[in-house]
Parts: sequence; C-alpha cells; structure tokens
Amino acid sequence: MFDALTAQPPDKILALMAAFREDPRSDKIDLGVGVYRDASGNTPVMRAVKAAEQGLVEEQTTKAYTGLAGDPAYAEALSGLILGPDVPRVRLAHVATPGGTGAIRQGLELIRMANPGAAIWLSDPTWPNHPAIAKYLGFDVKTYRYFDPATGGVDAAGMLNDLMKVPRGDVVVLHGCCHNPTGANLTLGQWAEVAGLLQERGAVPFVDIAYQGFGDGLEADALGVRLLVDRLPEVMIAASCSKNFGIYRERTGLLMSLVGSMAELKVTQGAMASLNRLNFSFPPDHGARVVSTILTDDALRADWEAELDAVRTSMLGLREQLAGELRTRSNSDRFGFLAAHRGMFSLLGATPEQIETMRRDHGVYMVGDSRLNIAGLNAQTVPRLAEAIVAAGV
Ligand code: LMR
Repeated sequence: MFDALTAQPPDKILALMAAFREDPRSDKIDLGVGVYRDASGNTPVMRAVKAAEQGLVEEQTTKAYTGLAGDPAYAEALSGLILGPDVPRVRLAHVATPGGTGAIRQGLELIRMANPGAAIWLSDPTWPNHPAIAKYLGFDVKTYRYFDPATGGVDAAGMLNDLMKVPRGDVVVLHGCCHNPTGANLTLGQWAEVAGLLQERGAVPFVDIAYQGFGDGLEADALGVRLLVDRLPEVMIAASCSKNFGIYRERTGLLMSLVGSMAELKVTQGAMASLNRLNFSFPPDHGARVVSTILTDDALRADWEAELDAVRTSMLGLREQLAGELRTRSNSDRFGFLAAHRGMFSLLGATPEQIETMRRDHGVYMVGDSRLNIAGLNAQTVPRLAEAIVAAGV
C-alpha cells in the first residue's frame, strides 16, 4: 500500500523551521514561523495562563469527555471576546476545534457538506495552509488581489474589483486582522465596502482571526469581523487562541457560523458537531478551559490584557526601530510601510536571491516570499537585520 504514496509538497514555513534548527551559527535570527519571542528569545507562558493552569490542577475534578462542541463556557467567552457585547447568539453555531487550523479545516468541511460546488476565494498572497487545505478537500481555489508591493499597502481597488466577480454562494476567506503574510490591513471603511460587495454578490465571508490583540488592540482588531456579523446574513469565523494567549501547543480554536435564520441554527450546530465526531470526536479541552477561566475572572483577564498589550506595543516599537534603521542605512523612506503594518508579519519585498543572501551571509531566516516575523526580533537584532537587508540590496 505505502509504495503508492508520493512525497507531499513541504509547507514552506515548517521547512524553514527545520532549516533554522540545523544552522549551527549561534547568532542566527529566526524570522520564520509566527511565534512571539521576548527580548531574550523565549516564548513565555503568559502569567494569567500559568495562574489559570494552576487553578485547574487544584480544582479540576475530572478529565471525562466534554461535549462534541467543546465546553459551552469556552465558546461563550471566546465569542464574546471576538464579537463584543452584542453576540447574536440565536443565530450563532459554534464548535471548539484543535487550534485555528482545525477551525479552518472544519469550516471548509462544513462548506463542502453544505455547498460542494462553492469555490474558495483567497487573498493573494495568503497563509499557505489556506490553499493547501482547500485544495486537499477538492475545492476550486481562486484568488483576489490584496497586496500592492509598490506601496506595501492593501490594493483596495484590485481587491474590490476581483470580489465583484465572485458568484453567489462562493466563499471569500478574509483575515480578521494582522494579515498573514503581508501585515497590510483593511481600514474600517474598506471592511464596509467589502461587506457591501459580498452582500450584493451573495457570497459568504469566512474570517480567519488568529492574531486578535496583536495589531491595534483587542477591540480595534475585531471591528472588521463585527461589522460583517452586523451586516451579513451568513458569516463563518475561524478563531485561534494560539498567539494571543500564547498557548500554541494546546491547540485551542473555535469555529463559528452565523446562520441566516434561527430555524437553521439547530441543523448547522448539529452538522458542525458531527464533523468534529467524524474527524477527531471531542475537541481538546485544556487550552479552552484556560481561556474561559481567564476571560471570566476579572483579575486574570486584566492581567492577560496587560501582558498582551505589552507584547503588542513591543512589536510596534520593533517596527518603528526597524523602519528607522532602514531609513538611515538606505537613505530612503522606502521601508516606511514596516512601521505602518500591524501584527507579527510584514512582507519585505525581497527576491528569492536576496533572501538566500541574507540567510547565507547573515544567518537571517525569513519565509521564501520575504515574510518576516517582527516578533522574532529584539532591540539588538534589529540593526543586524537592517544591515543584512541593505547589504543584500533589497
Ligand atoms: C505562521 O503563519 O507562521 C503560523 O500561523 C504558524 C503556522 O502554523 O504556520
């Protein structure tokens, strides 16, 4: 049987992680996978997470199964964090999933169950696992323009033009905030234009929100998805707690589906729970319980928000520092977009040869499309990165 297998294409982010590990240089810089590192290069367990975990160890009396949809308290708390005080609960189906990737996968499976002929529209560029999963599930994958390399900003006109062609029933994947890989984000006005267009076309948005709190703050980062939920009959949302709670390996995600009418809620909820059963039965619970503990305890929540905000502002500081270093060294403003971008990532605009030069001569590892993880930097490595960028002729 196994002789029929063919080698699978490597995921470029995971391949880069492996290459970095193998590099013996002690001063190498990892700007690859989207993981936050503090000034000493560690990915810490957040204070509130530690405290919530300690509480669970003391107080949890059972590890028996939860429901197929996960712990309802988790869904209630996380949907509130994302959708704000006015969550339309009578139209919202939800299931806990193994991480944000699990939510994407389960969401795409739900689409395949409901409308197998739908095409999936992805931003160009997007997180490589979006097309990988959609193609694996047999979907027709299309792209819409998103990024303007000349300005380092969103190509709003191109995006709206392409979305005008989306047929009724197709699904458009949008990044809720902190676009991965570009770092360029829609303004609220642009979200409103996209919402209007999707409504006109009868297309369904599927929002991937994996970095809430890493851009302009917990509330500001959720305004786009809230606007869609407010204005459109159907919205799907894949949420991840990996980054903003720093619980990457706990695999803590949530898939939400806003349905058009209360009558559709029961069947949709049932379909989502059944997909969990078919794929892995019960979703992981530890991370979910940590999240709901933090979000429902005033002191833990305040501490978590403060620590998250410190992470966010440190990334903004690193962005400013990098843009400043590059301004001085290149004697131009052409890297100013780095300070305007939000979230962990920015697309630098380097060629594959320049990326290879930076890796070879300076031990700088960034993804092959020139995505760099700002959260992999610190005040000491920023000048070295700026030097590598300019020396490579970017
Ligand atoms: C990334 O884009 O680096 C993260 O979302 C981690 C991953 O799984 O790719």
